[in-house]
Amino acid sequence: MMSNSFESIHNNNLLLKLNPVSLRSLISLKVLPCNLYAQESYKFIIISRAGDSFSRDHAKQFFLKGYRYFFIHEDEQPKYIEAHRNELLKTTRSLSVGDSATKLQYKIELLNKGLRLLYVNPIDDELLQQQQRSVSNLSQFLLNEKGTIKKLYNSQKMTPEQFLYQQPINSSILLLGMLKFIKVFNSNDIHNLFMTSYLKDIGMSLIPHQLEDKEYLTDSERIILNKHAAHSSEILSGRINLDNNYLRIIENHHAITQNQDDPQISVGIESVLINVIDIFVAMTSPRPYRQAETPYVALEKIKSLMVPQYSLEFKYLVHFLNKMLK
Ligand SMILES: [Fe+2]
Repeated sequence: MMSNSFESIHNNNLLLKLNPVSLRSLISLKVLPCNLYAQESYKFIIISRAGDSFSRDHAKQFFLKGYRYFFIHEDEQPKYIEAHRNELLKTTRSLSVGDSATKLQYKIELLNKGLRLLYVNPIDDELLQQQQRSVSNLSQFLLNEKGTIKKLYNSQKMTPEQFLYQQPINSSILLLGMLKFIKVFNSNDIHNLFMTSYLKDIGMSLIPHQLEDKEYLTDSERIILNKHAAHSSEILSGRINLDNNYLRIIENHHAITQNQDDPQISVGIESVLINVIDIFVAMTSPRPYRQAETPYVALEKIKSLMVPQYSLEFKYLVHFLNKMLK
């Protein structure tokens, strides 16, 4: 009985020090940089050790054994980050190989890997600078290219598990296309709005993971989730090359959704476009609790948010999406 109590205390202490990790992020490393934990009969156990090789097959075996959630110990987190940093360097070097479509896809994979690391450690300045350079590089490339955006957007795959890391790039590519289409903003504005859109959800790194994939949230959970926009602005303030106007857009990037009961509240058109394109990409992507909606259903939702206050902008959005999704 006594040993069971000690075991239970040990298990609870361990739980407090374990951080969730996705197997997908470990597959790319090929070798585990730290011990991997899972829960078995209410106990947390090491299911694979640092130095063990790790592949898609290993991941499949763990799922077949019934493990669903995986963790690493917080003391070993620096090793996890270091391994991914080395992986990022390797991916960066591979950008000099292959045709331009392959290189572009490499750039996006590089961004997704960097974002995954930033979500683990959003206050790492070196990671943030590296990510900003990668986003800036992609933005300049897309601004100068003709006809790439449609192909690039439609070739992006999104699984429910990847949503958190793939959604920012998908919505930013679509936003950049829309901003080029409406011809209201200059290249510098578009570049900054691309960066703004890409980094707007970095505050999700401070939100409990359980809330990310819940279909129905309680009022208090919704309040916590809604704080991610303010968290994003706080995390980025003074650390990136975006002035306060863009940080305010980040703070307001859900304003049109959150203020829909009060049509008197007006937000800048940049925030509105970032918000509705984010909704479009989110609704047309699969989530763990539902399948992807059709573009028509997503546009019906967006129409209810934009009309009558932003009727003209809604018309432009429909025209643009018609061209993009053909
Ligand atoms: Fe958001």
